[in-house]
Amino acid sequence: MSGDYQIRRFEPAVKNEPDYDAAVAWSRAVAFGFHEERKSEKRIDRGLAMSRADRSVFTGVYQTGEPAPHSLGEDVPVATFATWRKTLNVGFGTLLDTHLISSVTVRTSHRRRGLLRQMMSEDLALAKEDGVAIAALTASEASIYGRFGFGVATSEQSITVDTTSRFRLNHVPVGTVEVADPKVLLELAPQVFEQQHRLMPGSIDRQESYRQFVAGLVGRGGADGDGGPDAKVKTALHYSSDGAVDGYVSYKFSGWETEPAAMEIMDLVAANSAAYLELWQYLGAIDLVERVKWGTAPVDNPLIWALEDPRCVKGSEPRDMLWLRILDVRKALEARQFATDGTVVLKVHDSLGLTPGTFSLDVRNGQATVTASDATPDLELDISALSSIYLGAVHPASLVAAGRIQEKQQGAAFLAARMFAVERPAFCPTHF
Ligand SMILES: CC(C)(COP(=O)(O)OP(=O)(O)OC[C@H]1O[C@@H](n2cnc3c(N)ncnc32)[C@H](O)[C@@H]1OP(=O)(O)O)[C@@H](O)C(=O)NCCC(=O)NCCS
Repeated sequence: MSGDYQIRRFEPAVKNEPDYDAAVAWSRAVAFGFHEERKSEKRIDRGLAMSRADRSVFTGVYQTGEPAPHSLGEDVPVATFATWRKTLNVGFGTLLDTHLISSVTVRTSHRRRGLLRQMMSEDLALAKEDGVAIAALTASEASIYGRFGFGVATSEQSITVDTTSRFRLNHVPVGTVEVADPKVLLELAPQVFEQQHRLMPGSIDRQESYRQFVAGLVGRGGADGDGGPDAKVKTALHYSSDGAVDGYVSYKFSGWETEPAAMEIMDLVAANSAAYLELWQYLGAIDLVERVKWGTAPVDNPLIWALEDPRCVKGSEPRDMLWLRILDVRKALEARQFATDGTVVLKVHDSLGLTPGTFSLDVRNGQATVTASDATPDLELDISALSSIYLGAVHPASLVAAGRIQEKQQGAAFLAARMFAVERPAFCPTHF
């Protein structure tokens, strides 16, 4: 980055605080970067309050010279970047503090001058210095972040479920489902999510905006929150046999003009399999509707296996969801439990120089010890590939076949697959 720019980091301020104007200008720059409409002050304030609740840090890049006459002032950042910390379920119930990145934008008139590279390199180095082992993001375009060492770690897809008479679930009902005012989710959604989060490898704990989104109080998720209340939102709760709420679905009607008539799931969270299937049973029973759509469904979905006719579920657009970036190989590997004991020597390349080296991963009784090694590597790979296999959702053999991992010792990829496996399919149901 040339001397034409300076980077500034600050916390989201609220009205009457010194950084409030900077935070408003920063929020407007993010909205501009994602082609959103200009937000009212009220919406900006709500977004700032939510970012503050998440303890976000805003990064802005500012022009140092005089901006062109009549163009946006020097107080409006030409590039933005937000971070905050939440836990990531890294398998077998272990929750690991993770550095989350969002709101990445560079103004069109300043793009391809290295501003993203500068923000990202500095930010990841600071996070590592701060002791965090992993960073995570979701990507607008899949071509951007591999170069910074991020790898796809979970996937999702859109599904359309035929809920006509074909929809029959093979399961024994447990508990009951009732309709509720969506506002109850303000309190209940975080509680139910917390239970699911502990069970689901790949899950990232949710930002404040989520409960407001599922409760219909803001029109869309995301770190910033957006839109006003959404009057279309409806909610059903699942009660376990002892009467506790252990699942919910937040959904809306697609409108009579949609043929065939459909409901659209905004969020479906369940603390156990019975609640998950019962909520589907409920969705499948809604009158006057023949389809239920879910834009962010797991690819490996128990619903498909519970249906008498699995072809009721039509999947489309399978895509990358969670991207991980290991910042510290030893810390990240030692933080998680492993499914199988064994030793693998990994030669890891890292173009940002954060955590390169040859590491021996020794697992005994599921616990890892990671040491620097000068042994011949079993697997040679970029940090992005190691980040992809970290949660067990991507098979190392696929990355060998793709040329992303070099298998130096025959059978090492299969051993790594068994070691990195987690107790159920990794999935991240939280967009950020
Ligand atoms: C994506 C975006 C932030 C890139 O910013 P930028 O300042 O132009 O990026 P840089 O100049 O630092 O480029 C860094 C590298 O990424 C590459 N790159 C940047 N954007 C890319 C894209 N969309 N696709 C592929 N490569 C991209 C550059 O070619 C450069 O490569 P190199 O350093 O290996 O030569 C910017 O184009 C943008 O704001 N896009 C719209 C909003 C958006 O999609 N944000 C991402 C949200 S997840």
